[in-house]
Amino acid sequence: MVKKEKSSFIGHIRPRQIKAGALRLRATFCLGGFSFLAFTILTITGVLLMFYYQPGDKAFATLSEIDSALPYGGFIRSLHFWAGQLMVISVFLHMVRVVWTRSYRPISELNWIVGVVLFVSTVILDYSGYLLRGGQESGAAASVGQTLLRTLPGGQALAIVFFGQPSPLNGSTINVFVWHIFILSGIAGFLQMFHFWRVRKNGGVRPL
Ligand code: HEM
Repeated sequence: MVKKEKSSFIGHIRPRQIKAGALRLRATFCLGGFSFLAFTILTITGVLLMFYYQPGDKAFATLSEIDSALPYGGFIRSLHFWAGQLMVISVFLHMVRVVWTRSYRPISELNWIVGVVLFVSTVILDYSGYLLRGGQESGAAASVGQTLLRTLPGGQALAIVFFGQPSPLNGSTINVFVWHIFILSGIAGFLQMFHFWRVRKNGGVRPL
């Protein structure tokens, strides 16, 4: 059974056959595929930025150097920023398409729930990326986020888990950096693979 599941996981990458209608642009507007393309660009440019970016007190300075002193640094940074904005828009539109075609219904309920988690992680990734700039506007955005979190039950603890405990050793962006590059990106990457696998297991896109 485990072997069968494993081979079906690998097989979904290039299925032997799909319904002809699934290839029509109007079926999906390729919004899920576009979201994945944006995520791939974000991963590649994010890894490149990590070679130079330093979280904490030096964040703002290293980003200015990436912009001005590194060959193609500004281009890579802009690609990362715009791919992030486009991903938020395309994931949202993909969700609208799923609601419009009522594709959240059985047998796709699980994929709908996975999608909701993907949407939330995409928005938090975009927000945390903004905080990583380490500039004045990031500080203001962090204050807004902390105030909002603290209104939730257990929000004080949540704020410390996400934003970290301010200390001379922990510049404001170090905690958020770990969430951005490792935890949230890892969750989003893993869930996307699971999401695609479920689309295939459910017999492709619906309703067709
Ligand atoms: C990182 C974000 C996401 C990626 C990369 C992604 C990718 C995809 C892809 C490639 C498909 C195949 C059909 C298509 O392209 O439309 C799909 C289907 C689906 N997605 Fe997403 N998705 C994401 C987020 C979401 C969100 C936020 C929801 C809803 C809350 C969602 C719910 C679904 C459902 C229910 C299906 C099956 C649709 C059907 O049967 O027609 N996905 N997704």
